[in-house]
Amino acid sequence: MEISFWEKAFKSDTTFLFGSSPNKTVTDFENLFNEKGAVLDIGCGDGKNVVYLARQGFKNIDAFDISETAIEKLKRISDNEKLEINSQVKSLQEFNFEKQYDLVMSFGVYHFVPEQEWKNFILKAQQNTKLGGIHIIQMFNDNIPPTSDIAPYAVGMAKDGELKKLYKDWEILQFLSYEFEEKHPGVSLHKHASNKLVARKIRK
Ligand SMILES: C[S@@+](CC[C@H](N)C(=O)[O-])C[C@H]1O[C@@H](n2cnc3c(N)ncnc32)[C@H](O)[C@@H]1O
Repeated sequence: MEISFWEKAFKSDTTFLFGSSPNKTVTDFENLFNEKGAVLDIGCGDGKNVVYLARQGFKNIDAFDISETAIEKLKRISDNEKLEINSQVKSLQEFNFEKQYDLVMSFGVYHFVPEQEWKNFILKAQQNTKLGGIHIIQMFNDNIPPTSDIAPYAVGMAKDGELKKLYKDWEILQFLSYEFEEKHPGVSLHKHASNKLVARKIRK
């Protein structure tokens, strides 16, 4: 996927379009993660969340993104700091699970994937999560139509709340439906509608 304003930021080691601090959900729930745990970040971008966890001492981290530019940047950052992050260029549709994870997270990605594909992927991710493992998902819902900058790509926006239904056998630790405003270089202030879910696997 080539979304120019992202790709531009991914080319720079000093610009972080989506911020260089971890997502607040990662820090809010970090007491649930263990640094020995296996972590997977889906559509990691330039890696703010995995870089944060690696700096905290996590060593069993896998991350992938469809963008070569994003992964090159993440590799430069992790090489410079000698962080143990196994990152690769891969699309969610091609990714094969080769181990069981303790934490699977995905921020701002699934709405760029056709609905049936992200739903199938979630089922596979659930099967490849250890008992007690955590999933964190943030994705846009269609309460607000996509803005012109992302409309051609936002093919899989959720219906508000449907994400939760996929986790009916899990313990829901947080489920949010909210709107927020954003501004990117070249894109004026606009609003998104989003869902966020934090859930724990409680049954095999
Ligand atoms: C809004 S950015 C979020 C990046 C990162 N998760 C963060 O929070 O900073 C969305 C990311 O999803 C990636 N992406 C989009 N479609 C994808 C797919 N099918 N497979 C893997 N990554 C994808 C994009 O390349 C981009 O890096």
